[in-house]
Amino acid sequence: MCGIIGFTGTGDARGIILDGLKRLEYRGYDSAGIAVQNGNEINMVKAQGKVDNLISIAEKNDKLIGTCGIGHTRWATHGVPNDVNAHPHLSEDGKFALVHNGIIENQLEIKERLIKKGMTFKSDTDTEVMVQLLSYNYDGDIKKAILKTMSEIVGSFGIGVLCADNPGIVYTAKVASPIVIGLGVGENYFGSDITAFINHTKNVIDLDDNELAEVSKDKVTIYNYKGEEVKKSIRKVTWDIAAAEKSGYEHFMLKEIMEQPAAIKATIEPRIKDDKIVFDELNIDIKKFDRVLITACGSAYYAGCVGKNVIEKICRLHTSAEVASELRYSDPMIDEKTLVIAVSQSGETADTIAAMKEAKSKGAVVLAIVNVVGSTIAKLADYAIYTWAGPEIAVATTKGYTTQIAVFYMFAIWAAKQLGKIDDKKYVEYIQDIKRLPERAQRTLDLNTKVQKLADKYFHNKSIFFIGRYFDYAVCLEGSLKLKEISYIHSEAYAAGELKHGTIALIEEGRLVVAVCCYEPLLDKIISNIQQVKARGAEVLALAMEDNKKIFKEADDVLLVPKTDDIFMPIIEIIPLQLFAYYVAKNNKCDIDKPKNLAKSVTVE
Ligand code: M6R
Repeated sequence: MCGIIGFTGTGDARGIILDGLKRLEYRGYDSAGIAVQNGNEINMVKAQGKVDNLISIAEKNDKLIGTCGIGHTRWATHGVPNDVNAHPHLSEDGKFALVHNGIIENQLEIKERLIKKGMTFKSDTDTEVMVQLLSYNYDGDIKKAILKTMSEIVGSFGIGVLCADNPGIVYTAKVASPIVIGLGVGENYFGSDITAFINHTKNVIDLDDNELAEVSKDKVTIYNYKGEEVKKSIRKVTWDIAAAEKSGYEHFMLKEIMEQPAAIKATIEPRIKDDKIVFDELNIDIKKFDRVLITACGSAYYAGCVGKNVIEKICRLHTSAEVASELRYSDPMIDEKTLVIAVSQSGETADTIAAMKEAKSKGAVVLAIVNVVGSTIAKLADYAIYTWAGPEIAVATTKGYTTQIAVFYMFAIWAAKQLGKIDDKKYVEYIQDIKRLPERAQRTLDLNTKVQKLADKYFHNKSIFFIGRYFDYAVCLEGSLKLKEISYIHSEAYAAGELKHGTIALIEEGRLVVAVCCYEPLLDKIISNIQQVKARGAEVLALAMEDNKKIFKEADDVLLVPKTDDIFMPIIEIIPLQLFAYYVAKNNKCDIDKPKNLAKSVTVE
C-alpha cells in the first residue's frame, strides 16, 4: 500500500526520486521521505502529508546531493502518520536506510530481542525493526546480512536499502509485495510499480519472492534466498508515460472514465478471431468443473457479482461470488471440481492472494482476471486472463472494473459454447454485441454534461440510496461504493425488493434514491419500488435504457443509456454512475484521486 523507488546512476538522485514519488503517490499518501547517499554519508528528509510537502522541504535541503538514493510514500499500518514514522528508517548506527512496503508480523518478537541487545527505537513502525535487525546482522557483508534478515522476517515486504559502506549501490528484495527493476543506460531503478520510473525506461525485470537485487549504475545482479545468482528475463512495458499522466484532465479518475471505450476495446479485440472467442491463455476443459467460485475485494468483487449472474444465466453452471477476506477464513467447500476465479486490478491485494492460496490448497484450479502484468496474482494463478486497461492511477477504479466485466462476458460466452448451452445463432449474436461494447460505452460518455448538471442538483445530499434488481443490483453495489469512497457521502445499495424489509424506514422527504432500471424483464417491478419510495418523499434519479418512455412519469430525473442485450447492460450503466460520483465529489471539493484513508493497492490484511 506504499510506494517505493530506488535509483542509482550519474544524475541527480533527489530530482529523480521526488519525481517518481509524485507518480507513486496513489499507492499511499499520508507521509513521504527520501534518503540520498553521497560517498559514505546518507542524508534523509521526511515529511507528514502528501508528497508535495516533502518536495518543498527536500528541494531546499543542500545535503540531499548524490547520485544514488531511495524514496517512499506511505499508507500507515504501524504507527500514526507523522515525520518520525515516515520512511526511510535509519539504523541506530546510521549505516543503513530502509524503505518498506508490507507488514512484518513478528516485529514485536524481534524488537524485544534487539532491545535486550541494547538497541533503541525511535518510531512505532515495523520497518525500523527491520533496519535495526539488518544492522545487527551485518558483519561487513551486506548481501549476507540482507538475506539473513529476510529469512528471519515473517510477513510481507518489498524493501529498498542503502548501505553507507557501499556507495553507488541500492539493494532491493521482496516477499509477497511487488518490486520491479527498471534497466536504463548507465543508470538503474527499482520501484513498487513501473510508474515510478516509466519516464526513464521501459525495460524491466520482475523480482520474485525471496529474491535480492544488487543494483549499481551499470549492473543488476539478482540472488535467490541461498545467495546464488539467478538469471532473469527482461520484459518490455507496452504502455508509455502518457498512460500514467493526466494528459490535460483535472483528475486521473475522469481521464480513466473517458478511457473506458478504448480499454474495453483493447481487452476484447485480441480475443475475437474470425468472430470466435479465443483465449490462448486458457487451456482448460470447462466441462470438468461442477461449480465456479469468484473471489475478490471491493469493486473487483462487485465485478464478480456481475460475472456470477452472467455465468449462471448463460452457462447454467452453479456460480457464487464471495468476498476474499471472508472466503480465506471460511473453510470453503472447494475441491478439484471447482473453478475459482480471482479478480484484481492491481494483482497485489492481500486478501485475494490469501483466498487463492486457500483455494489451491483444496485442489481448485485458479483463474485470475487481472490487470497488472507479472503481478503476484497473475503468477500465483494457474491461468491468467489480462484486462488490458493500462495503468490505473485513481484510487477509485473505473476502467479496471469495466474491463473485468468485459472479460467475464467473454469467458461466459466461451464457456457456454464449450458446454453446449448456447446455439450457434446466439453465439454469433453475443459476439456482435461484445464487439459493439466500446462504441456503446463511448455513446454513454455523451451523458457527461447531463450527469454533471444532476450532480450540481444533488451533491448536497447527506445520504444516497441505490436500488436495482438482479444485474442492476450488482451495478448498484459498485455505483454506491464509487460515490462513498470519493465523496464521503453515506450511501447504500439495496436489492430493490429488499427495501420493504427494513431499509425503507430510512426513506424520508428529499432523500435521493438512484434507481437503476436497465434490466428489462424486471422493469415493472423496479417501477413499483420507485413508486414506494416516492410515496415516502424520496426524490428519484432513474437510469434506464434509451427506449424507456414509461420511466419519465415515475422519476424526478432520468438518464438514458444505449440499449443492448440485458446481460451487457452493466458495463454500460455503470458509466453514468461513475460520472455522478465524480462530479458529486468534485462539487464537495474532495480529493478525488486520493480519497482519505484509502490507497490504491491493498497489500495488507
Ligand atoms: O486491485 P484490486 O482490484 O484487487 O483491488 C480491490 C479493491 O481494493 C478495489 O477495487 C477498491 O475497492 C477500489 N478502491 C474501488 O474503487
